[in-house]
Amino acid sequence: MSGWVKIAGLGPGNEALVTSEVTAALAEATDVVGYIPYVARVAKRPGLTLHASDNRVEIDRSQHALRMAAEGKRVVVVSSGDPGVFAMAAAVFEALETGPDTWREIPVEVLPGITAMLAAAARAGAPLGHDFCAINLSDNLKPWAVIEKRLRLAAQADFAMAFYNPRSKSRPEGFVKTLEILRQECEPERLILFARAVSRPDEAICIATLAEATPDMADMQTVVIVGSSLTRVIERPIGPIVYTPRSTPE
Ligand SMILES: C[S@@+](CC[C@H](N)C(=O)[O-])C[C@H]1O[C@@H](n2cnc3c(N)ncnc32)[C@H](O)[C@@H]1O
Repeated sequence: MSGWVKIAGLGPGNEALVTSEVTAALAEATDVVGYIPYVARVAKRPGLTLHASDNRVEIDRSQHALRMAAEGKRVVVVSSGDPGVFAMAAAVFEALETGPDTWREIPVEVLPGITAMLAAAARAGAPLGHDFCAINLSDNLKPWAVIEKRLRLAAQADFAMAFYNPRSKSRPEGFVKTLEILRQECEPERLILFARAVSRPDEAICIATLAEATPDMADMQTVVIVGSSLTRVIERPIGPIVYTPRSTPE
């Protein structure tokens, strides 16, 4: 079988943050499959067909990619950030697991990318320098009760936390509830970082405390990082640094 699927992460937005492995895969591809804004980031060229689709059709898109690879095409499935973080890699494997046995012979490779929380953390300093967790706040693919339980337990365990998909127009109440839960579990001075459009021209980074945070500080272009109880700010004339120390005292 000459066809293959490579599931590639395009990073947070800036072309300088696309890995050379991903650039090489795109140069070899016959077909690129993905959500409309991510496919729009791939340069058109002769011999390359771009297949852009809506974000609610991840499994259909994955099946399409696997079918084309089974026919001998070289298919790159694109995600933003890293494809294994709330993105297409798991969807492709779900389609592979439930698809025809012949699909199991298709070479499938995951090409990592820089995920939003790491790009955001790097901008601020090192807020994820000690133990942390990542939570997708969208309840499209899981019940809200699961999100609430994970949030509460992560806060009680004193993890730093990164929140993806924090607040969409169709479910604005989720982030309101998130802030309420955090206020029940953490002190008002706890640091919270709103990192919007990281590495893009419209990037905006806002460092606040939990007491100052308001729901409208987040949207779907934002990754939110909540510090642990040890996360602190170094104030400097040229801008603050947020970091979490490497060690936790006894
Ligand atoms: C469906 S998730 C995809 C995550 C992606 N696979 C990654 O690894 O970054 C989309 C969410 O990622 C976050 N995100 C993606 N790119 C971002 C960026 N450049 N700046 C801030 N947040 C970003 C936002 O929270 C957004 O709602």
